[in-house]
Amino acid sequence: MSSHEDVFILAIESSCDETAAAVVKNGRQVLSNVISSQIDLHTLFGGVVPEIASRKHIEKINPVILQALTDAGMTLDDITAIGVTYGPGLVGALLVGVAEAKAIAYAKKKPLVGVHHIEGHISANYIENPDLEPPFVCLVVSGGHTHLVIVKDYGVFEIIGRTRDDAAGEAFDKVARAVGLGYPGGPKIDQAARGGNPHALEFPRAKVAGNPYDFSFSGLKSAVLNTINHAKMTGETVAVADLAASFQNAVVEVLSDHAVRAAKEYGYDRLAIAGGVASNTALRERLQSECKKAGIRFYRPSPVLCTDNAAMIGAAAYYEYQKGTRHGWDLNAIPNLKLGER
Ligand code: KG4
Ligand code: ZN
Repeated sequence: MSSHEDVFILAIESSCDETAAAVVKNGRQVLSNVISSQIDLHTLFGGVVPEIASRKHIEKINPVILQALTDAGMTLDDITAIGVTYGPGLVGALLVGVAEAKAIAYAKKKPLVGVHHIEGHISANYIENPDLEPPFVCLVVSGGHTHLVIVKDYGVFEIIGRTRDDAAGEAFDKVARAVGLGYPGGPKIDQAARGGNPHALEFPRAKVAGNPYDFSFSGLKSAVLNTINHAKMTGETVAVADLAASFQNAVVEVLSDHAVRAAKEYGYDRLAIAGGVASNTALRERLQSECKKAGIRFYRPSPVLCTDNAAMIGAAAYYEYQKGTRHGWDLNAIPNLKLGER
């Protein structure tokens, strides 16, 4: 059933290595969610190659959008507005989605709503949790971001902590590469850690001077790399499973401690997680139990909504649309777009 007040967003996401399109009804109901991943392509190179990513996006974007419309049983005429990620991300990759969204919006005379990629990740939490509304605390952990955020209202954020160096996902990716697990590192470490002992190796838990909610992962990453190099030089073998589990445990402990402490000290009884690393099994388990102990309600999107997708962009675009956010034909990709800027 649909009424004329219903808002159908066609959302497009192409900021990194997934070409994605979705149709989202009224911000929370996903009618279709199509993701074309380039992972196999970039695996050959051990990481995302920006130029290859752009080329693949241009090849996939139209089929992916058509599939999203078909899956939703809709045509462009049924769509209320076009939502698109315009930053942050790889500029050439972003430009494909932005140009596509502009072309469709122009041709079909539909409003254009540019979305911040991280606002999208955070908004993934609205999709499966009809009761979740701001304000709440959100831990954003992706390949490029590690932020502790207070979501004050839809699209209104206060960043209370951030990483001083590597993002959490970046640390996973670098460690995975060093132990030969390949790209993308997060899921590989997650998998390998299942057979390992998280207390086998002692790694540092970075304390950052100044802000208790800031993060630092470069010391931990170096400690892991030193362990690997030392073992190589002395001819010892390190059990990959133990190393993965111990490293993961160190990351998860810091992420979860900071997030729960923030919720308690700022007085929020709801905590959400977002971004690719939010699909990590150990992080989800630890936060689940720590939140329970602290009387905090814990929200986490399904893994497929944690990693890059367009449904989350559709959710964010809906709330931006309702607030009156509209972008013009001069919308550009902004590779270093800051959260809360427009
Ligand atoms: O949000 P995302 O898909 O893309 C960015 O916006 O960066 O996050 C990708 C990051 C990668 O660093 C990947 O290794 C990590 O999320 N990741 C994970 C897991 N799945 C993806 N990290 C830890 N455990 C996982 N299960
Ligand atoms: Zn992302």
